[in-house]
Amino acid sequence: MRAKSVEFQSFRNLKSAKIQCHPSVNVIYGDNAQGKTNLLEAIWLFSGAKSFRGAKDSECIAHGSELARLSLEFESLGRNHTAGLDISNKRSATLDGVSLKTAGELAGNFKAVVFSPTHLSLIKDGPGVRRRFIDTAIGQIWPKYIGILKNYTHLLAQRNALLKDLRYSTQLYDMLSVYDSQLADLGSKITAYRNRYIDRLNEFVGDIYSGISGGKEILTVEYEATGGCDVDSLLNALKENQSSDISTATTSVGPHRDELSVKINDMAARSFGSQGQQRSAVIALKLSEAAVINQITGEQPVALLDDVMSELDEGRQDYILNHIKDWQVFITCCDRNSVKLLKEGTSFKVEKGEVKEEK
Ligand SMILES: Nc1ncnc2c1ncn2[C@@H]1O[C@H](COP(=O)(O)OP(=O)(O)OP(=O)(O)O)[C@@H](O)[C@H]1O
Ligand SMILES: [Mg+2]
Repeated sequence: MRAKSVEFQSFRNLKSAKIQCHPSVNVIYGDNAQGKTNLLEAIWLFSGAKSFRGAKDSECIAHGSELARLSLEFESLGRNHTAGLDISNKRSATLDGVSLKTAGELAGNFKAVVFSPTHLSLIKDGPGVRRRFIDTAIGQIWPKYIGILKNYTHLLAQRNALLKDLRYSTQLYDMLSVYDSQLADLGSKITAYRNRYIDRLNEFVGDIYSGISGGKEILTVEYEATGGCDVDSLLNALKENQSSDISTATTSVGPHRDELSVKINDMAARSFGSQGQQRSAVIALKLSEAAVINQITGEQPVALLDDVMSELDEGRQDYILNHIKDWQVFITCCDRNSVKLLKEGTSFKVEKGEVKEEK
């Protein structure tokens, strides 16, 4: 997957332009508030997803305009395509001149992964963020998972409601056993998918992290199940915890409580990782997510890395700029010195919304 050119009109503060992208590394640099992240966001929107900043579509339209217009030429599996995206009070998209029913349909066509500083929560925050990360990633490559997860969540809400009712009416006990076996059944499917995904992730994440850290540190990712992974152990765990679950009216074990443990040199990255280590770990996870997509779809997504360089020493910056050549990367940064480390690629300077390629 390669973006070849991006064109934008009335998109945030960016001055209308068309830029030609380098097939490997594209560095976008400039002072704060000049439009670097805006440019990355413009490319990201072609993935069909919402803004990675959590912005509303209307916020992307340049102040004073009513319509933002984006266009992307990209190459996918050896073929050239053109996608168009208009953002007004709604989004409308075209692919190779044909209107799509929804802009979301761009999803399977232009593939990208994004890192933005908000993704640091992937290491810094609680297990829910990490569960969401793998759930989203799994849903993208094995769409059946989405339905299973939905059913599990629905059943879990029903069990929790029943736990509340059981405080007043013990006749409902039989119902609890029914829910528990259904929950164990669906739950074990979820843990199976998650373990399968983490196995895939582990084929890459260790090597990538080792590359970033110059071979000095080891990153490991493991699934930690609160109630075991197979149906029987999950069912046993649910049964064992029934009375405490009734008193709290919550379900204390199962995939909704499981953790994705991320360790650096055998220590939890969340509690013991330095700023640079935490950032490196998230970048490694994001790049591994892309590598897994490549393994399954045969195509390496474009990596959009917003503000990855800050807090990273020169060795780590060098790895990101010069050693992930197999796929196309867009990286924003403020420091001109980071750009100097780039050996092969293009750099763009962004100033007051004007994007200029540096020769
Ligand atoms: N819809 C809009 N219309 C006009 N200007 C906008 C709009 N949305 C955002 N901006 C402006 O775009 C500017 C640049 O935003 P951007 O986030 O791209 O900066 P940046 O270069 O990434 O800076 P930093 O280095 O601080 O991350 C903001 O200062 C904001 O005023
Ligand atoms: Mg920015």
